Amino acid sequence: MCGIFAVSGERNDAGSMVLKGLKKLEYRGYDSWGIAVREGEKIDVEKQVGKISGVKQKFPPATEAMGHTRWATHGGVTKENAHPHQVGKVTLVHNGIFENYLEAKKSLDDWKFHSETDTEVIAALLDREIQGGKNTAEAIRAVAEKIEGRFAILVMVEGEPGIWAARRGSPLILGRGETETFIASDIPAFLEYTTTVNYLDDGEMVHIHGAQANFSNLKTGTPVDKRNITVDWTTEEAEKGEFAHFMIKEIFEQKQTIIRAINHEDEKLRQAAALLKQANGVYFIACGTAHKVAAAAEYFFADISGRKINVVPAGEMPYFERFVHEGTALIAISQSGETADVLEVLERGKKKGAKILSITNVETSSVARIADAHLPIFAGPEKAVASTKAATAQMALCFLLAHADAEMRERGSINRGREILRTTASSINDLLNPRYEEHVRDVAEKIVDRPNLFIIGRGALYPMALEAAIKIQEVSYIHAQGFAAGELKHGPIALIENRVPCLVLGDDPETVSNAMELKARGARIIGIAPTPAEVFDEWLRVPDCNGSQAIASIIPVQILAYHLAILKGLDPDMPRNLAKSVTVK
Ligand code: AGP
Ligand code: GLU
Repeated sequence: MCGIFAVSGERNDAGSMVLKGLKKLEYRGYDSWGIAVREGEKIDVEKQVGKISGVKQKFPPATEAMGHTRWATHGGVTKENAHPHQVGKVTLVHNGIFENYLEAKKSLDDWKFHSETDTEVIAALLDREIQGGKNTAEAIRAVAEKIEGRFAILVMVEGEPGIWAARRGSPLILGRGETETFIASDIPAFLEYTTTVNYLDDGEMVHIHGAQANFSNLKTGTPVDKRNITVDWTTEEAEKGEFAHFMIKEIFEQKQTIIRAINHEDEKLRQAAALLKQANGVYFIACGTAHKVAAAAEYFFADISGRKINVVPAGEMPYFERFVHEGTALIAISQSGETADVLEVLERGKKKGAKILSITNVETSSVARIADAHLPIFAGPEKAVASTKAATAQMALCFLLAHADAEMRERGSINRGREILRTTASSINDLLNPRYEEHVRDVAEKIVDRPNLFIIGRGALYPMALEAAIKIQEVSYIHAQGFAAGELKHGPIALIENRVPCLVLGDDPETVSNAMELKARGARIIGIAPTPAEVFDEWLRVPDCNGSQAIASIIPVQILAYHLAILKGLDPDMPRNLAKSVTVK
């Protein structure tokens, strides 16, 4: 995972345009950055370790430049390992992993490597092919054949105007301006210049020069025709606006996104439900937060339509793939639609004849493209690494899908599901106000010095306890762990001592009893529930949501995680060691 951005055009400030564009992609990778600028015959490279957001670098006048924000996979976070990498006439940036790079490196003993990356090996292979007489397009095709793994690359060659791009498995999108062309790993990078885009598909390459873009097949070199697509993203959606961070902006956007997520024709939902009905086994596949959403969906389906679905973290699916046959339904939930673990399960499943339904936020993503049917969640760009609005939108859609399934089984109706979600959305709208945020921040202040935190919930609130732990861990670095409420007394209760904060999701009698067991051992109980049980030391109110409680109950935890990070002086949008989507295995 990384951010890639390039421009080729007539304007003379390509270097600063790339710097600006990369800042918008920084959520994708932020351990180091680098920019290459074409200056006449030469290509100059500037690289630095650290975040790009505060950088104010001046670049020489140039009409062509490309850059990269890195999320290291091979080699530490050093200036040498930052991209672009230069070998001979070739300058290259790369997203992904060259899995067999060590083997390829052995054949390059005439080149002294300056970095520990797999990327520099690609640059060296390309340079060797060009020196051997191939033109750049032929060289890229030949080297692509040698790479095992997913990649997106951009290539500049000394003395040869234009920028080359190729992809297999990692996203690249072209922005088409009047006099210039952009290539980026995500649309916000060029949104201020154009909303006309072309998606580079897997196994394709393109050469851009000014307003020209020539697409071809990465294997055969055969020209490919591309349709111009207009995207309806706005720059406001992709900017922080009045908010201090994307994370809090996206949390507040849940006022609208839950309702947007269920804006699907009934017929489309029925078709998706039919796919489950006809399936030879149903597997929900996802990673991280999206996996916790799938785990909540397991409760929704059991409760609403009486269907038992299987929920497997994508990385664990290889152990169950012998149960995937022709007609098995694989339901992939992924905000980005680019998560490598998910994609690989789908690719293998497709070969076996499985039917794929995808639930993603990026309609043009690899996951959406491989699917037989796609249900977008319409949450708009989610840029903070911590998934918030996408998670609740995915949950709302799964909840509605369970109602569509129930309708098919004559146990309920889509209308009923929609009605519940509309009420949920409207109570969330009322809840999300500055006063509520302030209250959550006060609670955060009381617990920020505690090194450990536990969360309990039962039913669909159990996966939300697991999700709450992810939110708190990833942005505040506090050790947080979620449990099924009844499980705590089977071991983890040994960890409870004086003043350990415990978030209790729910106010049903059994959960309240579990909370009392914790309190009896000194825990500080923070209740997240519609009513204030006596056992709660602090109470964060959530609306009573009639079966969709999981959606509302995670929201105060998102705000809490955000404020814990702020109180600790951390940047919640870009937590250490993480990247927005994990496009490597
Ligand atoms: C969420 O807060 C995390 N950053 C992470 O777990 C994320 O949900 C996971 O990597 C899956 O990403 P995806 O939804 O884009 O597939
Ligand atoms: N594998 C490359 C590296 O470690 C690319 C990583 C990325 O996608 O940012 O430099």
